[in-house]
Amino acid sequence: MALSVVSISEKHLVHNIKKIMEQLKAPHYICCMLKSEAYGHGLIEIAQILLKNDMKIFGVARIQEAIKLREKLGDAFKILLFCPLEVYDLSLLQKYKVDPVVTSENDWKLLKNSPSFEKFHLQLDMGMNRLGVSLDLGKNIIKEAMSLTAQIKLESILTHLPDLRHQKSGLSDSAQMSFKSMELLREELVSKGTDIKFHMANSEALFSRSWPEGWGARPGISLYGVGSPDWKLEPLIEWTSTVVQIKMVKKGQAVSYGGKWVAQKDTPIAIIAAGYADGFPKSLSNKGLVGFKNEIYPVVGAVCMDYFMINMEGKIQLCVGDEVVLVSRNAIPALSCVEVSKRAGISAYEFLTGLGHRNELRVEPS
Ligand SMILES: Cc1ncc(COP(=O)(O)O)c(C=O)c1O
Repeated sequence: MALSVVSISEKHLVHNIKKIMEQLKAPHYICCMLKSEAYGHGLIEIAQILLKNDMKIFGVARIQEAIKLREKLGDAFKILLFCPLEVYDLSLLQKYKVDPVVTSENDWKLLKNSPSFEKFHLQLDMGMNRLGVSLDLGKNIIKEAMSLTAQIKLESILTHLPDLRHQKSGLSDSAQMSFKSMELLREELVSKGTDIKFHMANSEALFSRSWPEGWGARPGISLYGVGSPDWKLEPLIEWTSTVVQIKMVKKGQAVSYGGKWVAQKDTPIAIIAAGYADGFPKSLSNKGLVGFKNEIYPVVGAVCMDYFMINMEGKIQLCVGDEVVLVSRNAIPALSCVEVSKRAGISAYEFLTGLGHRNELRVEPS
């Protein structure tokens, strides 16, 4: 029996898929980003729900993630690998039917000289200076690929925007420029009769405008229900843990490593079975909150690897075995994933992907 449980709401994931689809025109080309255990929500569990809801294109960042998907769920879906090709043996991608994403000139050389890849995707770098080729090099690759259609098909062209977050509404100026360049390229290729797909939007870009026909997207965090309230998403996660011991700390005594919290009077504390190894950030030392019924309890002292302590003074006295809420799906706003991340001084991305393997994952069916 696990002492900490992450429960995922299938109903909320289905709701978020609908909201994402509403931003795009059919036919939809939606690459659901499942990297890092589906942002900590469980790669296989999330992929299974997505498949049931006709989402059949998945994005991963490491070959191991693709292998796990294939071994557990078969091959009735596409997997795009967002990682330079030269770091892997290409035969692994072939064996597990993983679509390569070309992110450099070197990737392209490797790919075109390696027989039996039927299709690939091309990532353009429009200012992120991470993975991707320049627009000029991209155009050369596209030209070359179009002369090799008997051998390999260019399925989609994508880019990833770095600076959307500065803008309150709509795309930022540089994002607008990237969109224009991509749209021109798309129109040119459409006029040549190609059916190459285009996608540039992550969650924020996706919800910052309505996207015209011909545009797909690669949502990550929005699938999991994190984003602006205007997007009307529903969070997936409820995270609970267990009280494993109760203790009375005497006035003047300190709690946890470094003695950073000292009892001002005799104080009852409860010890909770989650620590930074489970994803409860150390930065919540003396700062975090947990919930039980209508009460909120403050974390006292440093968060340890496997445990942290809460102050029960003046509140309902918890017992060993009681379940406390670390992240609330909807019932306790102060414990939403976004609020907990903020309090910890990290992004919701970091918080969610930091959830540890010791938490038991449960899916609450719709
Ligand atoms: C290439 C790429 N596309 C899409 C996404 C999804 O972004 P988000 O989670 O903000 O929707 C990411 C996430 O980091 C990414 O690296």
